[in-house]
Amino acid sequence: MKLRFRLNDEDKELDVEPFRRLLDVLREDLHLTGSKEGCGEGECGACTVLIDGAPVNSCLVPVAQLDGHDIRTIEGLARQGTDGEVLLDEVQQALVSFGGTQCGICTPGIALCASAALTREPNADRARLRELLAGNLCRCTGYQLIIDALVDAASTRRGNSKR
Ligand code: FES
Ligand code: FES
Repeated sequence: MKLRFRLNDEDKELDVEPFRRLLDVLREDLHLTGSKEGCGEGECGACTVLIDGAPVNSCLVPVAQLDGHDIRTIEGLARQGTDGEVLLDEVQQALVSFGGTQCGICTPGIALCASAALTREPNADRARLRELLAGNLCRCTGYQLIIDALVDAASTRRGNSKR
C-alpha cells in the first residue's frame, strides 16, 4: 500500500506491505536504527516511538495504521538550533549528565516516553515519573540514575518554559 505520514518533521511516502511492523519499517526501510527491539511483544518499551505525540510500542503497530499520522523517533527528538547546532531535548541532556544509561538499549524509548510525559504532565514528581515510565524496562541501571535524570529534566523544562 501507499502510505503517507510525517516522520521527524518531514513528509514521507512509502510503498509497503501493510501488516509489517512499524519497528521493522523504521529500522530496515528507513535506516532509523535508534528504535530498539527488546522483547518484540509489547512488554519492554525499547521500541517506543511517538505517534501524534503519544508513546507507542512500535513492535506492535502494523505500518498501515500510520497513514496520515505524525511519528517521532529518537532521531527526531533533538532539534536544530538557529546556527545548525544540535539542541538535545531536556531529557536527553539529563540522561547524559546523570549517566542514566549503560548498554543503551532502553535509552531511546525512555527518552521519548519521558519527553512526551513531561509535555503532558510538566509538574510530574519523582513518584509520578516512575509511574509514567513503568512501561519502559531497564535491565542494567536499577533505575535510580534514570529517575534522577528525569526529575532534573522536569525541573529544567519548567524553567525553560518560563523564559
Ligand atoms: S520491543 Fe517493543 S515493547 Fe519490547
Ligand atoms: S541501560 Fe541497558 S537496558 Fe537500560
